Amino acid sequence: MGTSEEHNQAAVSAAFFPIPIDSLDAPSLELDLYLRHSRGAPVLYRAKGSAYSVRDCKKLADQGVTHLLVPITQHRVFQKLMTERVTTAYEDPNLSRAERTRIVRESCAAMISDLMTYPHIPGISETLGDMAGCFAAWCTQDESKFSYLLDMSEHDYYTITHMVNVGVGCGMLAAELGMPTDQIQRIVQGGLIHDVGKIGVPAEVLNKEGKLTDEEWAMIRRHPEIGVEILRTNGETCAEVIEMTIAHHERLDGSGYPYGLSGDAIGIPARICAVLDVYDAMTAARPYRGPLPPNKVLDTIRTESGKGFDKSIFDAWDRVVQRLVEQDPSRAVQDTGQPVPPPGILRQMPNAAGSTDQTALAAGEVRGVFVRRFMRTGPGVGDPIRCRVMSTEATAVRLTLPCPAAAGEMLRITLPDESTLNLMVTRTTYGPGGEPIVECARAA
Ligand SMILES: [Fe+2]
Repeated sequence: MGTSEEHNQAAVSAAFFPIPIDSLDAPSLELDLYLRHSRGAPVLYRAKGSAYSVRDCKKLADQGVTHLLVPITQHRVFQKLMTERVTTAYEDPNLSRAERTRIVRESCAAMISDLMTYPHIPGISETLGDMAGCFAAWCTQDESKFSYLLDMSEHDYYTITHMVNVGVGCGMLAAELGMPTDQIQRIVQGGLIHDVGKIGVPAEVLNKEGKLTDEEWAMIRRHPEIGVEILRTNGETCAEVIEMTIAHHERLDGSGYPYGLSGDAIGIPARICAVLDVYDAMTAARPYRGPLPPNKVLDTIRTESGKGFDKSIFDAWDRVVQRLVEQDPSRAVQDTGQPVPPPGILRQMPNAAGSTDQTALAAGEVRGVFVRRFMRTGPGVGDPIRCRVMSTEATAVRLTLPCPAAAGEMLRITLPDESTLNLMVTRTTYGPGGEPIVECARAA
Protein backbone atom coordinates (compact mmCIF):
# COMPACT_ATOMS: atom_id res chain seq x y z
CA MET A 1 0.00 0.00 0.00
CA GLY A 2 1.38 3.42 -1.00
CA THR A 3 2.07 6.18 1.44
CA SER A 4 -0.56 8.47 -0.07
CA GLU A 5 -3.21 5.77 0.32
CA GLU A 6 -2.25 5.33 3.93
CA HIS A 7 -2.38 9.08 4.31
CA ASN A 8 -5.88 9.22 2.77
CA GLN A 9 -7.09 6.45 4.99
CA ALA A 10 -5.67 8.16 8.07
CA ALA A 11 -7.34 11.44 7.07
CA VAL A 12 -10.72 9.74 6.63
CA SER A 13 -10.35 7.90 9.93
CA ALA A 14 -9.50 11.12 11.71
CA ALA A 15 -12.54 12.97 10.33
CA PHE A 16 -15.25 10.28 10.19
CA PHE A 17 -16.43 7.26 12.11
CA PRO A 18 -18.27 4.31 10.57
CA ILE A 19 -21.77 3.27 11.55
CA PRO A 20 -23.55 0.09 10.43
CA ILE A 21 -26.19 0.91 7.80
CA ASP A 22 -28.99 -0.39 10.01
CA SER A 23 -28.13 1.94 12.93
CA LEU A 24 -30.66 4.60 11.94
CA ASP A 25 -34.24 4.94 10.76
CA ALA A 26 -35.27 8.59 10.79
CA PRO A 27 -37.82 10.72 8.93
CA SER A 28 -35.51 13.68 9.55
CA LEU A 29 -31.85 12.91 10.19
CA GLU A 30 -30.08 14.75 12.97
CA LEU A 31 -26.70 14.17 11.37
CA ASP A 32 -24.98 13.91 7.98
CA LEU A 33 -24.35 10.54 6.38
CA TYR A 34 -21.46 9.98 3.99
CA LEU A 35 -20.71 7.10 1.70
CA ARG A 36 -17.28 5.98 0.66
CA HIS A 37 -16.70 4.03 -2.51
CA SER A 38 -13.55 1.98 -2.53
CA ARG A 39 -10.75 4.16 -1.21
CA GLY A 40 -11.97 7.50 -2.56
CA ALA A 41 -12.97 10.49 -0.48
CA PRO A 42 -16.31 10.14 1.36
CA VAL A 43 -19.25 11.78 -0.45
CA LEU A 44 -22.35 13.20 1.21
CA TYR A 45 -25.13 10.62 0.94
CA ARG A 46 -27.87 12.19 3.10
CA ALA A 47 -27.68 15.60 4.72
CA LYS A 48 -29.04 16.50 8.12
CA GLY A 49 -32.82 17.02 7.88
CA SER A 50 -33.40 14.49 5.09
CA ALA A 51 -34.99 11.08 5.60
CA TYR A 52 -33.24 7.74 5.96
CA SER A 53 -35.46 4.69 6.12
CA VAL A 54 -35.32 0.92 6.30
CA ARG A 55 -35.82 0.93 2.52
CA ASP A 56 -32.64 2.99 2.04
CA CYS A 57 -30.81 0.59 4.28
CA LYS A 58 -31.98 -2.34 2.19
CA LYS A 59 -30.90 -0.64 -1.04
CA LEU A 60 -27.43 -0.06 0.39
CA ALA A 61 -27.23 -3.65 1.57
CA ASP A 62 -28.16 -4.85 -1.93
CA GLN A 63 -25.22 -2.83 -3.26
CA GLY A 64 -22.92 -4.53 -0.77
CA VAL A 65 -22.56 -1.46 1.46
CA THR A 66 -22.28 -2.38 5.15
CA HIS A 67 -21.35 0.97 6.72
CA LEU A 68 -21.92 4.70 6.34
CA LEU A 69 -19.64 7.43 7.64
CA VAL A 70 -20.54 10.22 10.05
CA PRO A 71 -18.31 13.25 10.75
CA ILE A 72 -16.54 12.91 14.08
CA THR A 73 -17.83 16.34 15.05
CA GLN A 74 -21.33 14.77 15.15
CA HIS A 75 -20.30 11.89 17.36
CA ARG A 76 -22.20 13.06 20.44
CA VAL A 77 -25.44 13.37 18.44
CA PHE A 78 -25.03 9.85 17.14
CA GLN A 79 -24.35 8.44 20.58
CA LYS A 80 -27.46 10.12 21.97
CA LEU A 81 -29.52 8.56 19.19
CA MET A 82 -27.98 5.19 19.94
CA THR A 83 -28.87 5.42 23.62
CA GLU A 84 -32.47 6.27 22.67
CA ARG A 85 -32.57 3.42 20.19
CA VAL A 86 -31.24 0.98 22.76
CA THR A 87 -33.86 2.11 25.28
CA THR A 88 -36.64 1.67 22.73
CA ALA A 89 -35.39 -1.82 21.85
CA TYR A 90 -35.06 -2.83 25.49
CA GLU A 91 -38.64 -1.81 26.17
CA ASP A 92 -40.19 -3.11 22.94
CA PRO A 93 -42.58 -5.95 23.88
CA ASN A 94 -42.56 -7.21 20.29
CA LEU A 95 -38.87 -8.03 20.27
CA SER A 96 -37.72 -11.46 21.36
CA ARG A 97 -35.35 -11.67 24.29
CA ALA A 98 -32.53 -12.77 22.00
CA GLU A 99 -33.08 -9.84 19.65
CA ARG A 100 -33.32 -7.32 22.49
CA THR A 101 -30.14 -8.68 24.02
CA ARG A 102 -28.32 -8.52 20.71
CA ILE A 103 -29.29 -4.91 20.03
CA VAL A 104 -28.36 -3.67 23.51
CA ARG A 105 -25.07 -5.57 23.70
CA GLU A 106 -23.97 -4.63 20.19
CA SER A 107 -24.83 -0.97 20.67
CA CYS A 108 -22.99 -0.90 23.97
CA ALA A 109 -19.99 -2.65 22.40
CA ALA A 110 -20.01 -0.09 19.58
CA MET A 111 -19.90 2.76 22.11
CA ILE A 112 -16.97 1.16 23.91
CA SER A 113 -15.27 0.54 20.59
CA ASP A 114 -15.69 4.25 19.73
CA LEU A 115 -14.17 5.22 23.06
CA MET A 116 -11.20 3.00 22.29
CA THR A 117 -10.88 4.22 18.72
CA TYR A 118 -11.39 7.94 19.39
CA PRO A 119 -10.35 8.32 23.04
CA HIS A 120 -9.49 11.98 22.61
CA ILE A 121 -12.89 13.21 21.43
CA PRO A 122 -13.88 15.43 24.38
CA GLY A 123 -16.62 13.90 26.48
CA ILE A 124 -16.65 10.56 24.70
CA SER A 125 -16.68 8.63 27.98
CA GLU A 126 -19.86 10.54 28.94
CA THR A 127 -21.76 8.58 26.31
CA LEU A 128 -21.10 5.47 28.35
CA GLY A 129 -22.46 7.37 31.33
CA ASP A 130 -25.79 7.70 29.48
CA MET A 131 -25.80 3.98 28.72
CA ALA A 132 -24.82 3.23 32.33
CA GLY A 133 -27.82 5.30 33.48
CA CYS A 134 -30.10 3.03 31.45
CA PHE A 135 -28.41 -0.08 32.85
CA ALA A 136 -28.72 1.17 36.44
CA ALA A 137 -32.43 1.87 36.03
CA TRP A 138 -33.09 -1.45 34.30
CA CYS A 139 -31.25 -3.62 36.78
CA THR A 140 -33.05 -2.12 39.75
CA GLN A 141 -36.46 -2.38 38.03
CA ASP A 142 -36.27 -6.00 36.90
CA GLU A 143 -33.10 -7.96 37.56
CA SER A 144 -34.31 -11.04 35.73
CA LYS A 145 -34.93 -9.19 32.46
CA PHE A 146 -31.72 -7.18 32.74
CA SER A 147 -29.61 -10.19 33.62
CA TYR A 148 -29.87 -11.62 30.11
CA LEU A 149 -27.50 -8.87 29.02
CA LEU A 150 -24.79 -10.76 30.92
CA ASP A 151 -23.43 -13.40 28.61
CA MET A 152 -22.69 -16.42 30.78
CA SER A 153 -22.30 -19.02 28.09
CA GLU A 154 -20.55 -19.19 24.76
CA HIS A 155 -18.96 -15.77 24.48
CA ASP A 156 -15.37 -15.35 23.39
CA TYR A 157 -13.05 -13.28 25.47
CA TYR A 158 -11.90 -10.12 23.91
CA THR A 159 -11.57 -6.72 25.43
CA ILE A 160 -14.85 -5.13 24.34
CA THR A 161 -17.16 -8.09 25.02
CA HIS A 162 -15.47 -8.35 28.37
CA MET A 163 -16.09 -4.67 29.15
CA VAL A 164 -19.81 -5.01 28.30
CA ASN A 165 -20.10 -8.03 30.57
CA VAL A 166 -18.21 -6.39 33.41
CA GLY A 167 -20.43 -3.30 33.14
CA VAL A 168 -23.62 -5.40 33.24
CA GLY A 169 -22.32 -7.55 36.10
CA CYS A 170 -21.15 -4.52 38.09
CA GLY A 171 -24.70 -3.16 37.87
CA MET A 172 -26.24 -6.32 39.26
CA LEU A 173 -23.61 -6.64 41.97
CA ALA A 174 -23.95 -3.02 43.06
CA ALA A 175 -27.74 -3.47 43.21
CA GLU A 176 -27.30 -6.66 45.26
CA LEU A 177 -25.15 -4.64 47.67
CA GLY A 178 -28.06 -2.22 48.08
CA MET A 179 -26.45 0.81 46.48
CA PRO A 180 -28.66 3.70 45.30
CA THR A 181 -29.36 4.01 41.57
CA ASP A 182 -27.08 7.01 41.00
CA GLN A 183 -24.14 5.13 42.47
CA ILE A 184 -25.01 1.99 40.51
CA GLN A 185 -24.84 4.15 37.39
CA ARG A 186 -21.29 5.27 38.19
CA ILE A 187 -20.23 1.70 39.00
CA VAL A 188 -21.69 0.44 35.70
CA GLN A 189 -19.88 3.19 33.82
CA GLY A 190 -16.62 2.20 35.51
CA GLY A 191 -17.21 -1.43 34.56
CA LEU A 192 -17.87 -0.52 30.93
CA ILE A 193 -14.70 1.59 30.78
CA HIS A 194 -12.27 -0.19 33.14
CA ASP A 195 -9.98 -1.74 30.49
CA VAL A 196 -9.78 1.27 28.16
CA GLY A 197 -6.02 1.40 28.80
CA LYS A 198 -5.59 -1.82 26.85
CA ILE A 199 -5.47 0.27 23.69
CA GLY A 200 -1.96 1.16 24.86
CA VAL A 201 -0.83 -2.49 24.97
CA PRO A 202 0.22 -4.20 21.73
CA ALA A 203 -2.37 -6.73 20.54
CA GLU A 204 0.18 -9.50 20.22
CA VAL A 205 1.05 -9.09 23.89
CA LEU A 206 -2.59 -8.96 25.03
CA ASN A 207 -3.41 -12.13 23.15
CA LYS A 208 -0.24 -14.11 23.63
CA GLU A 209 -1.06 -17.63 24.68
CA GLY A 210 2.34 -18.68 25.97
CA LYS A 211 4.26 -17.39 28.93
CA LEU A 212 4.83 -13.63 28.92
CA THR A 213 8.35 -12.25 29.09
CA ASP A 214 9.13 -9.77 31.89
CA GLU A 215 8.98 -6.95 29.38
CA GLU A 216 5.57 -8.05 28.04
CA TRP A 217 4.23 -8.46 31.54
CA ALA A 218 5.38 -4.92 32.34
CA MET A 219 3.40 -3.66 29.32
CA ILE A 220 0.22 -5.42 30.52
CA ARG A 221 0.64 -3.99 33.99
CA ARG A 222 0.63 -0.48 32.60
CA HIS A 223 -2.93 -0.65 31.21
CA PRO A 224 -4.65 0.71 34.35
CA GLU A 225 -2.41 3.79 34.35
CA ILE A 226 -2.77 4.29 30.60
CA GLY A 227 -6.54 4.04 31.09
CA VAL A 228 -6.57 6.79 33.68
CA GLU A 229 -4.38 9.01 31.49
CA ILE A 230 -6.92 8.58 28.67
CA LEU A 231 -9.84 9.39 30.96
CA ARG A 232 -8.15 12.48 32.39
CA THR A 233 -7.33 13.74 28.89
CA ASN A 234 -10.95 13.11 28.01
CA GLY A 235 -12.20 15.20 30.91
CA GLU A 236 -13.66 12.29 32.88
CA THR A 237 -13.84 13.21 36.56
CA CYS A 238 -16.13 10.57 38.07
CA ALA A 239 -14.27 9.17 41.08
CA GLU A 240 -15.73 5.67 40.80
CA VAL A 241 -14.84 5.39 37.12
CA ILE A 242 -11.27 6.51 37.73
CA GLU A 243 -10.83 4.26 40.74
CA MET A 244 -12.19 1.20 38.94
CA THR A 245 -9.91 1.86 35.97
CA ILE A 246 -6.75 2.30 38.03
CA ALA A 247 -7.34 -0.32 40.75
CA HIS A 248 -9.30 -3.26 39.30
CA HIS A 249 -6.17 -5.41 39.38
CA GLU A 250 -5.24 -4.48 42.94
CA ARG A 251 -5.83 -7.23 45.52
CA LEU A 252 -6.65 -6.92 49.22
CA ASP A 253 -3.60 -8.98 50.18
CA GLY A 254 -1.30 -6.60 48.29
CA SER A 255 -0.56 -9.05 45.47
CA GLY A 256 -2.10 -6.93 42.68
CA TYR A 257 -0.92 -4.14 40.39
CA PRO A 258 -0.05 -1.43 39.40
CA TYR A 259 0.73 -0.19 42.94
CA GLY A 260 0.39 -3.29 45.15
CA LEU A 261 -2.25 -1.52 47.27
CA SER A 262 -3.81 -3.51 50.09
CA GLY A 263 -6.77 -3.48 52.46
CA ASP A 264 -8.57 -0.18 52.93
CA ALA A 265 -6.47 1.53 50.27
CA ILE A 266 -8.69 -0.24 47.73
CA GLY A 267 -12.18 1.23 47.53
CA ILE A 268 -15.48 -0.61 47.13
CA PRO A 269 -15.95 0.25 43.41
CA ALA A 270 -12.54 -1.27 42.58
CA ARG A 271 -13.31 -4.35 44.70
CA ILE A 272 -16.56 -4.84 42.78
CA CYS A 273 -14.78 -4.46 39.46
CA ALA A 274 -12.04 -6.91 40.52
CA VAL A 275 -14.57 -9.68 41.17
CA LEU A 276 -16.40 -9.15 37.86
CA ASP A 277 -13.17 -8.77 35.91
CA VAL A 278 -11.85 -12.14 37.03
CA TYR A 279 -15.23 -13.86 36.89
CA ASP A 280 -15.86 -12.84 33.29
CA ALA A 281 -12.32 -13.56 32.15
CA MET A 282 -12.62 -17.09 33.53
CA THR A 283 -16.10 -17.94 32.23
CA ALA A 284 -15.31 -16.72 28.68
CA ALA A 285 -14.03 -19.02 25.96
CA ARG A 286 -10.38 -18.66 25.04
CA PRO A 287 -8.71 -19.83 21.84
CA TYR A 288 -7.25 -22.78 23.77
CA ARG A 289 -10.34 -23.84 25.74
CA GLY A 290 -14.10 -23.53 25.78
CA PRO A 291 -16.13 -21.38 28.18
CA LEU A 292 -16.20 -22.53 31.81
CA PRO A 293 -19.39 -23.09 33.85
CA PRO A 294 -20.16 -20.27 36.34
CA ASN A 295 -20.10 -22.52 39.41
CA LYS A 296 -16.72 -23.92 38.55
CA VAL A 297 -15.35 -20.41 38.13
CA LEU A 298 -16.82 -19.24 41.44
CA ASP A 299 -15.31 -22.29 43.22
CA THR A 300 -11.91 -21.58 41.70
CA ILE A 301 -11.95 -17.93 42.69
CA ARG A 302 -13.09 -18.84 46.21
CA THR A 303 -10.42 -21.45 46.83
CA GLU A 304 -7.45 -20.19 44.85
CA SER A 305 -7.54 -16.48 45.28
CA GLY A 306 -9.99 -15.84 48.08
CA LYS A 307 -7.61 -13.64 50.03
CA GLY A 308 -7.28 -11.16 47.22
CA PHE A 309 -11.00 -10.37 47.01
CA ASP A 310 -13.45 -8.76 49.38
CA LYS A 311 -15.37 -11.70 50.84
CA SER A 312 -18.68 -9.94 51.31
CA ILE A 313 -18.57 -8.59 47.74
CA PHE A 314 -17.60 -11.96 46.33
CA ASP A 315 -20.39 -13.65 48.33
CA ALA A 316 -22.89 -11.12 46.98
CA TRP A 317 -21.85 -11.95 43.40
CA ASP A 318 -22.04 -15.66 44.22
CA ARG A 319 -25.65 -15.13 45.35
CA VAL A 320 -26.51 -13.26 42.15
CA VAL A 321 -25.06 -16.00 39.95
CA GLN A 322 -26.77 -18.81 41.91
CA ARG A 323 -30.07 -16.99 41.59
CA LEU A 324 -29.71 -16.44 37.84
CA VAL A 325 -28.65 -20.01 37.09
CA GLU A 326 -31.49 -21.33 39.23
CA GLN A 327 -34.01 -19.16 37.34
CA ASP A 328 -32.76 -20.35 33.97
CA PRO A 329 -30.10 -23.07 33.92
CA SER A 330 -29.92 -22.91 30.11
CA ARG A 331 -28.23 -19.52 30.22
CA ALA A 332 -24.99 -20.96 31.59
CA VAL A 333 -22.56 -23.49 30.19
CA GLN A 334 -23.34 -26.82 31.79
CA ASP A 335 -20.79 -28.49 33.99
CA THR A 336 -20.56 -32.00 32.58
CA GLY A 337 -17.48 -32.93 34.56
CA GLN A 338 -15.74 -33.53 31.22
CA PRO A 339 -12.81 -31.47 29.97
CA VAL A 340 -14.11 -28.40 28.17
CA PRO A 341 -13.44 -28.57 24.43
CA PRO A 342 -11.89 -25.61 22.63
CA PRO A 343 -14.36 -23.26 20.87
CA GLY A 344 -13.75 -25.43 17.83
CA ILE A 345 -13.75 -23.32 14.75
CA LEU A 346 -13.63 -26.41 12.58
CA ARG A 347 -16.67 -28.06 14.00
CA GLN A 348 -18.74 -24.92 13.54
CA MET A 349 -17.42 -23.59 10.30
CA PRO A 350 -19.37 -24.32 7.12
CA ASN A 351 -17.54 -24.86 3.86
CA ALA A 352 -18.56 -24.55 0.23
CA ALA A 353 -20.06 -28.00 0.14
CA GLY A 354 -21.78 -27.54 3.48
CA SER A 355 -19.97 -30.58 4.81
CA THR A 356 -17.60 -30.90 7.69
CA ASP A 357 -14.64 -31.24 5.33
CA GLN A 358 -12.75 -27.99 5.59
CA THR A 359 -10.58 -28.25 2.50
CA ALA A 360 -12.61 -25.64 0.59
CA LEU A 361 -11.71 -23.10 3.20
CA ALA A 362 -8.19 -24.29 3.75
CA ALA A 363 -6.72 -22.63 0.70
CA GLY A 364 -7.29 -19.82 -1.73
CA GLU A 365 -8.53 -16.29 -1.90
CA VAL A 366 -11.74 -15.10 -0.38
CA ARG A 367 -13.36 -11.69 -0.27
CA GLY A 368 -13.50 -9.96 3.07
CA VAL A 369 -14.63 -6.78 4.73
CA PHE A 370 -13.91 -5.37 8.18
CA VAL A 371 -17.04 -5.00 10.28
CA ARG A 372 -15.18 -3.72 13.34
CA ARG A 373 -11.94 -1.86 12.97
CA PHE A 374 -9.77 -0.12 15.55
CA MET A 375 -6.62 0.54 13.54
CA ARG A 376 -6.51 3.81 11.71
CA THR A 377 -4.29 2.79 8.83
CA GLY A 378 -5.14 0.55 5.92
CA PRO A 379 -8.65 -0.35 4.79
CA GLY A 380 -11.46 0.74 7.07
CA VAL A 381 -14.84 -0.72 7.91
CA GLY A 382 -16.73 -1.61 4.76
CA ASP A 383 -13.72 -1.44 2.38
CA PRO A 384 -13.38 -4.63 0.38
CA ILE A 385 -10.21 -6.61 1.12
CA ARG A 386 -8.73 -9.71 -0.42
CA CYS A 387 -7.80 -12.39 2.06
CA ARG A 388 -5.94 -15.60 1.43
CA VAL A 389 -6.84 -18.48 3.70
CA MET A 390 -3.60 -20.13 4.77
CA SER A 391 -4.83 -22.77 7.13
CA THR A 392 -7.59 -23.76 9.48
CA GLU A 393 -6.55 -25.37 12.69
CA ALA A 394 -8.39 -26.78 15.68
CA THR A 395 -9.24 -23.40 17.09
CA ALA A 396 -8.15 -20.81 14.57
CA VAL A 397 -8.07 -19.69 10.96
CA ARG A 398 -4.97 -18.02 9.56
CA LEU A 399 -5.32 -15.53 6.74
CA THR A 400 -2.97 -13.23 4.92
CA LEU A 401 -4.43 -9.75 4.64
CA PRO A 402 -3.20 -6.63 2.84
CA CYS A 403 -2.84 -4.97 6.26
CA PRO A 404 -2.23 -5.84 9.91
CA ALA A 405 -5.28 -6.05 12.17
CA ALA A 406 -5.70 -5.55 15.90
CA ALA A 407 -7.06 -8.10 18.33
CA GLY A 408 -10.81 -7.78 18.69
CA GLU A 409 -11.30 -6.39 15.19
CA MET A 410 -13.82 -8.35 13.20
CA LEU A 411 -14.01 -9.24 9.58
CA ARG A 412 -16.58 -11.00 7.50
CA ILE A 413 -15.32 -13.27 4.76
CA THR A 414 -17.41 -14.54 1.88
CA LEU A 415 -16.92 -18.20 1.13
CA PRO A 416 -17.00 -19.62 -2.39
CA ASP A 417 -20.69 -20.55 -2.00
CA GLU A 418 -21.46 -16.91 -1.08
CA SER A 419 -22.18 -17.79 2.54
CA THR A 420 -20.40 -15.52 4.98
CA LEU A 421 -18.41 -16.15 8.07
CA ASN A 422 -17.58 -13.68 10.84
CA LEU A 423 -14.09 -13.91 12.23
CA MET A 424 -12.53 -12.16 15.19
CA VAL A 425 -8.87 -11.28 15.00
CA THR A 426 -6.81 -12.66 17.85
CA ARG A 427 -3.40 -11.51 16.65
CA THR A 428 -1.24 -10.44 13.72
CA THR A 429 2.14 -11.95 12.92
CA TYR A 430 4.30 -11.44 9.84
CA GLY A 431 5.41 -13.88 7.15
CA PRO A 432 8.92 -14.14 5.68
CA GLY A 433 8.14 -11.44 3.09
CA GLY A 434 6.80 -9.12 5.78
CA GLU A 435 3.20 -9.92 4.80
CA PRO A 436 0.72 -9.62 7.67
CA ILE A 437 -0.72 -12.96 8.79
CA VAL A 438 -3.83 -12.60 10.86
CA GLU A 439 -5.03 -15.29 13.22
CA CYS A 440 -8.77 -15.36 13.79
CA ALA A 441 -11.35 -17.20 15.80
CA ARG A 442 -14.93 -17.65 14.68
CA ALA A 443 -17.21 -14.89 15.95
CA ALA A 444 -20.98 -14.94 16.33
FE1 LIG B 1 -7.78 -4.97 33.26
